[in-house]
Parts: sequence; structure tokens; C-alpha cells
Amino acid sequence: MTKHAPSASPERDKQDGLLTLLNQRLAEAVDLQMKMKQAHWNVKGANFMGLHQLFDSIAEAVAAYVDQIAERIVQLGGVAEGTVRVSAARSKLADYPLVISAGLAHVEAVGKALATFRHEVRNTVDEAEELDDVETADLFIGMSRSLDKWVWFVEAHAHVPG
Ligand SMILES: [Fe+2]
Repeated sequence: MTKHAPSASPERDKQDGLLTLLNQRLAEAVDLQMKMKQAHWNVKGANFMGLHQLFDSIAEAVAAYVDQIAERIVQLGGVAEGTVRVSAARSKLADYPLVISAGLAHVEAVGKALATFRHEVRNTVDEAEELDDVETADLFIGMSRSLDKWVWFVEAHAHVPG
């Protein structure tokens, strides 16, 4: 994280808080992106093509979140700490199960990962507002809205008619 002298100003403390917050979300977004690819590659079964394409569309959307978060960090004067190794060590998302293949198992695992990330994204809106950065809050509001759509798409696959 950003180092500064002990005499730092309240503004500097806010900036450090924002950079810590954003790097934490960056770690989870990088982790989430590869989880979506894991699902895209390994899903099998009746809904194969639909789920294979859906999981890739989500991976693309999450790649855009990664880019937006990383570039916001640099715009705020920080360093985007987005390597796979740092992200894996920091991410709060649960491990993705490696042995599953059935569509419903991936739907469940993807849904869980998206829900956890959306929860963190929504908290980030409030935390960014508390740190007086409405632009960062706005960025995460957009992400939350996008995640609502993907959660809906994924949950629709889990629906059992009747
Ligand atoms: Fe692919």
C-alpha cells in the first residue's frame, strides 16, 4: 500500500483509504474473471452452449471491471496491484470447485462468486462516499447494476419450472 510520512494530511489519509479499498476490489475482480473462464471452459451437459457462452460474456464484463478499477487506482496516484499472485492472496472470494462439470453445479458456483463480489461492490459504493470520492462511488454503482444483470442471467438457469 501507499507509504507516506507520519505528518500526512486528512486528504492523504482518505487517498490511502481509497487506494487500499480499490486494490482489494481489484484482487477480487481478477480472481472473479478467471473463475468465470474456469466455468466457461469446463461446463458440460444439456445447456452446454448457452452456459459456455454466458460464462464467457460474464468473463468479458468482469475484464472490463478489472480495467476500470485498475485505471481508477492509477488516476488517484496509486499503483494497481493486479498480478495474479497478489490477487489470489488478497481475494475474499471462496475457492472455485475444480472437480465439477454439470451445468447446475457451475451455475451454483458462478452465482455464489457473483453474489459475493456484488456484495463487496455495493459496500464499496458506501465506503467511497464516506471517503468523499463520488466518482469512485459512481463507478461501483455502474458495476453493481451490471452485476444485477449477470446474477439474473445465471439464476434464470437455476430455475426449475413447475
Ligand atoms: Fe473460449
